[in-house]
Amino acid sequence: MKNVNIKINGMDFEVPSNYTVLEACKKANIDIPTLCYLKEINETGACRMCVVEVEGARSLQASCVLKVREGMNVKTNTKRVINSRTTTLELLLANHNKDCLKCNRNGKCELQDLSERFHIRDIYFDSFEKRTPHYDDSSVSIVRDQSKCILCGRCVSACQKVAGMGILTYINRGFEAVVGTGFNYKLEEAGCIYCGQCINVCPVGALKEKSHIDQVWDAINNPNVHVVVQTAPAVRASIGEEFGLEMGTRATGKMVAAIKRLGVDKVFDTNFAADLTIMEEGYELLDRIQNNGVLPMLTSCSPGWIRLIEQYYPEFIHNLSSCKSPHQMFGAIIKSYYAEKANIDPKDIFVVSVMPCSAKKSEMNRDEMEVNGLRDVDAVLTTREISNIIREAGIRFNELEDEEFDNPLGEYSGAGVIFGATGGVMEAALRTVADILENKDLDDFEYNNVRGIEGIKEASIELGGKTVNIAVAHGGENAKKLMDMIKSGEKEYHFVEIMGCSGGCVNGGGQPYVKASIRNSGVDIRLARAKALYEEDEIKQVRKSHQNKQIQLLYKEFLEKPNSHKSHELLHTHYKKQEIFPIS
Ligand code: SF4
Ligand code: SF4
Ligand code: SF4
Ligand code: FES
Repeated sequence: MKNVNIKINGMDFEVPSNYTVLEACKKANIDIPTLCYLKEINETGACRMCVVEVEGARSLQASCVLKVREGMNVKTNTKRVINSRTTTLELLLANHNKDCLKCNRNGKCELQDLSERFHIRDIYFDSFEKRTPHYDDSSVSIVRDQSKCILCGRCVSACQKVAGMGILTYINRGFEAVVGTGFNYKLEEAGCIYCGQCINVCPVGALKEKSHIDQVWDAINNPNVHVVVQTAPAVRASIGEEFGLEMGTRATGKMVAAIKRLGVDKVFDTNFAADLTIMEEGYELLDRIQNNGVLPMLTSCSPGWIRLIEQYYPEFIHNLSSCKSPHQMFGAIIKSYYAEKANIDPKDIFVVSVMPCSAKKSEMNRDEMEVNGLRDVDAVLTTREISNIIREAGIRFNELEDEEFDNPLGEYSGAGVIFGATGGVMEAALRTVADILENKDLDDFEYNNVRGIEGIKEASIELGGKTVNIAVAHGGENAKKLMDMIKSGEKEYHFVEIMGCSGGCVNGGGQPYVKASIRNSGVDIRLARAKALYEEDEIKQVRKSHQNKQIQLLYKEFLEKPNSHKSHELLHTHYKKQEIFPIS
């Protein structure tokens, strides 16, 4: 790449010619404020927070979309620049519902950060007419509060480019412009898959998950309720970020220690149920391959993906594995096997799933997710919510010594851990299916061709003398691409893993907020967090689901065998076509 010479605030710099002025300033260790800009996702130059003066240009220029050129002379801190940025902020704040003390983003808000940086103490335009606010809590997963929206468009672009869904858009013009769904349908009816990628990129409190925090505190404080918490694989790879640890730090032991200090009765690991899922799903796949069942079999552990297929590809519903997702399976096991073992009335058990995902809140509410009138799961907390609870309880996360999960349902294999990354479910399933078909403990069980963040990964694998064609996709856009190829007959597979979120659960819609300044620095959140999971897999002694001793005991004592009558009663479910844009 050719370099160009530019001046920034009178100093000389040489930068690659494909840089924007924003990137060049960053290289010069000058942080230009941004709001709407998200590298490669939202490069619209809309908010004008990032303006700079460029010699020869009459108006101020948006540095996030302006490319450098030879001899460019840039000034980032003139009075005109500072006044412009301050006025932009004041105009945004004038129309903003500034109830910071009650806002879920208080202390983690990019608008708040900028207000502080620019010493906003008075808002001169505050008396102006305000937009009519709109509050949409129709969805069981996501709440939209337009009174907080600053129209940056980051959610619109993320829904289009990261989620691949295009549910959010600008509606109306001028002063009446708002971000909403097509035809202003409620999110629940608009074809949304609840992946929460929009929440993750929103700089303010305009988008959030539906909170279950109060229900969880009520359960913890009720002496008649036995509270069991389970934590998903991907939470351990990100929860440290909430407490200032570096992205990609595995905090399994601290997380367990912190949750135990909340006063819950047991802390189990959803990884145990990931192993259980592999047993059920692996045998289901074998049965379909050996007995001319419906193929390709599609994984069913991502509720975002389930919403996508139910709304957009209902003709493939029979291809879905009938397995519930791991945390739902675990809920059903806790209220049956565990309740029996611990001699507790299952009606007195309250199961809390700590998940990286906003869509799990919708999943736990599905009619099908109960056995004999008892809900599998009673509350879902996102990684952000459990971190809020830990802070609220005054637990010093970083000072905690590592602690172990409780037993008898706390043991898990390395295969269970990698469920949190795209390709992980496929790899875990292959480890078990290959051993079963070959009837031995194979040494070669790492399937590197399904790892990584390539949008669609394919492989043909020899299993027990048969070639099995597999594919893995993540994020709505890749999911749709892959399904279209299957639908047209262009591709034929035996087994397909699809995750609703780009990168899999590590990048779910309930994971810690990552500010734009970090997102724009080039770090790939998906890879950083996935690395933590693969490291945990490597240090586990047991790395295959069927070798998990507690899983073996569960089948021996309770379930009999994979896909038994009892397994079907507790661990399997069905799906149904969901309408989009119903005419009401
Ligand atoms: S979005 Fe930010 S500035 Fe607005 S109320 Fe919430 S914390 Fe305050
Ligand atoms: S949850 Fe996902 S699909 Fe729904 S609006 Fe947000 S990004 Fe789009
Ligand atoms: S909802 Fe959030 S991300 Fe979307 S436009 Fe409004 S402020 Fe920006
Ligand atoms: S215009 Fe550059 S950050 Fe918004």
